[in-house]
Amino acid sequence: MQQQLLQQDGFLEITRRARRNRKSSALRALIQETRLHPSHFVAPFFVIDDLDKKIPITSMPGVFRFGIESLLKEIEANLQLGIRAINLFCYTTEEKKDSLATEATRQGNLLQRAIATIKKELPEVLVMADIALDPFTDHGHDGIVDDAGSILNDPTIVILAEMALRAAEAGCDIVSPSDMMDGRIGFIRKALDSNGFHQVSILSYAVKQASSFYGPFRDALDSAPKFGDKKTYQMSPANVREALLECMLDEEEGADMLLVKPAITNLDIIAKVRAMTNLPLGAYQVSGEYAMIKAAHEKGVLDEKKAFLETLTAIKRAGADFIVTYAAKDACEALKRYEF
Ligand code: PBG
Repeated sequence: MQQQLLQQDGFLEITRRARRNRKSSALRALIQETRLHPSHFVAPFFVIDDLDKKIPITSMPGVFRFGIESLLKEIEANLQLGIRAINLFCYTTEEKKDSLATEATRQGNLLQRAIATIKKELPEVLVMADIALDPFTDHGHDGIVDDAGSILNDPTIVILAEMALRAAEAGCDIVSPSDMMDGRIGFIRKALDSNGFHQVSILSYAVKQASSFYGPFRDALDSAPKFGDKKTYQMSPANVREALLECMLDEEEGADMLLVKPAITNLDIIAKVRAMTNLPLGAYQVSGEYAMIKAAHEKGVLDEKKAFLETLTAIKRAGADFIVTYAAKDACEALKRYEF
């Protein structure tokens, strides 16, 4: 019956056929609007004070804690694939943690040694350092805590500025405050400038939500908060206008680049920030996003490589210029094999 509707040559009269633009791989590639590129990935690394060690992180298959020597090798492997930017997070052993995060600013600490070694051995690598106190505090919060359990803003940013200054002295290219304290961008900028570090950039984690997707990261650094939650400083995932306000304030204070995290749950916010600012914008595909895809792959319900390419492309399509992702290497390898 339906067959009778077809004309003699077997076609209906359909004037516009969108599928024509999808008929071959070459044509699909020709009209592709969003493209991933290795130079737009930032690879995050967890550093331990154990030179040539490489220890797997159970909650993040394929991710390791690296001693500085083994990290150099890993960075070289990333460079081979075209990944030229890295973000460093340091693991602090329990006995070095205290309520004031003293280790965060100690001269010669692991972060400074890691930065200095990397910049000496591989000077072409763009080195970012996470500026936050939670890996260094015994309570696991990103700030100084008073007797009532409140996170103190202003005393915290004084320490953050000192931590940023130490990173700059070690040769860091970009400091990335991820703490969500008020006024820290302006204060860090002043500290850097008054010490001659006018060329050190600030990547502000401007929109960082109190998210359930940071679980595996806190495993990796043993940095989960010992009491309460981070809701008095990290943002609510429910708010868009507040996210834009955070970006506006950080831009006014002198941020060179902004970042939104998590990524895949915030595509609308990425798009709105992109429309509001002319600063470069990054997004962080966080540990939980990574672990989720890995777990689904291990269960056999999807292909992790394709899922990484799809999510990373979506993040870029939303408006991110660059993406911090634990899947940077996986994605670069997959880009060679799959259409994306
Ligand atoms: C530290 C920090 C966290 C992340 C980046 N920097 C954890 C947190 O705020 O609790 C999370 C990154 C990830 O989950 O991959 N302030």
